Amino acid sequence: MTQLTAKINSTPSDDTFNHTSTSLNSFALRLLDWFATNGRHDLPWQQHQTDTPNPYIVWLSEVMLQQTQVTTVLPYFARFMISFPTVQDLAAAEWDEIAEHWAGLGYYARARNLHKGAKQLVATIAETDGFPQTLAGWEAISGVGPSTAGAIMAMGLHQYGVICDGNVKRVLTRWAAIDGDITKSATTKELWALAERLTPEQDSGLFAQAMMDMGATLCTRRKPACLLCPLQTDCLAHAQSREEEYPVKAKKKPKPSKFSNALLIENTEGEILWLQRPDNGIWGGLWSLPLEFVDKIDGKVVANKQDNKITSEPRHDVRSNEKVYEVEFTTAEQIINDWLSKNQLIAQSVSSDLLHDAPAPIKHSLTHFHWYLTPQQLTLNTEQSQELTTALQAAEINLHWLNGNEAQVTLGLPRAMVKILE
Ligand code: ADE
Ligand code: SF4
Repeated sequence: MTQLTAKINSTPSDDTFNHTSTSLNSFALRLLDWFATNGRHDLPWQQHQTDTPNPYIVWLSEVMLQQTQVTTVLPYFARFMISFPTVQDLAAAEWDEIAEHWAGLGYYARARNLHKGAKQLVATIAETDGFPQTLAGWEAISGVGPSTAGAIMAMGLHQYGVICDGNVKRVLTRWAAIDGDITKSATTKELWALAERLTPEQDSGLFAQAMMDMGATLCTRRKPACLLCPLQTDCLAHAQSREEEYPVKAKKKPKPSKFSNALLIENTEGEILWLQRPDNGIWGGLWSLPLEFVDKIDGKVVANKQDNKITSEPRHDVRSNEKVYEVEFTTAEQIINDWLSKNQLIAQSVSSDLLHDAPAPIKHSLTHFHWYLTPQQLTLNTEQSQELTTALQAAEINLHWLNGNEAQVTLGLPRAMVKILE
């Protein structure tokens, strides 16, 4: 492969940008000069100082860094590299092992894409004798978008690649005072065109690393360090002291709230029932307590209980203006609810004080909603726990009876489950 792969998209003429050709032309040099002396060169996934870059390392780290900060990612990345030193190791791993390594990083869809992506990469390597060598080849891998693909081309293969992730968008909207809403496709196009115009044909990998560093360390969301910035002399937002007004982003609607009971079903040994969730939906493929989504009524969390039994009947609240959520169950949870109701068993709110029926739920925020989880406890006798286990196994549900500590150590639980155990 040649170092100089031609730019794929032709870039519009310089008149379409907010800066002169001189400013546009000197951008990369200024940035790379700054990076050489002030940038971070010791991040374990950086491949700019090596002659034989490892695309696996760049792909893995980029996926981990997609929604998570460098300091959080570092220990996770180290453990992944020990357990899965090659893409073949990752592809061959059991999902449970990957989930356990990922536990706590959040956005589990990324972990599922990572596993799927590893299998796709291994298949490609078997067919072509190497990692994908084109942008399109990388974009075809699960979880890899255009910016991640550009990063891998540039940093993981030392070919030509352009990145335009959240950090880059913040730097560029400020430097060029781009007023468009960055969630709109017209603005995205404008930003990509500018990123392409600024990315040098040589050293696009170094440039990508420098841009990421700039965004993360100088041109931060709040109080950017403009005095130290190599782009300060012609930064249009800085000239007007309007740095923090960029990037312009449509106000997000407030996240909706969901409410669930989390059932701590114990056997006589003090072990708790854990279920593996289905691959799709919240925490796909991860281990969790059985959950029971409930409706919200008049600001109070009210479980779907009728005749004091947990039932699966959705209950609709006509008085509240809030969106009423359908009760959502997995197959396993449905089986549990039916079984509890058949046996006239009621899970009790943990630490419920008798005067106020609703205990304080545990709040956990996910991408699309806030989640309020109320732990409810129920102890089964030996016969009952065996009967329930048999009912679940008959439906091919993966389950474990483990005490809280064992579950944390062996299952790699989502953060919210750890919060409940604590
Ligand atoms: N954020 C996204 N990719 C990154 C990288 N390679 N280094 C530092 N921060 C990043
Ligand atoms: Fe960001 Fe300030 Fe540099 Fe402009 S001068 S690019 S706002 S750090």
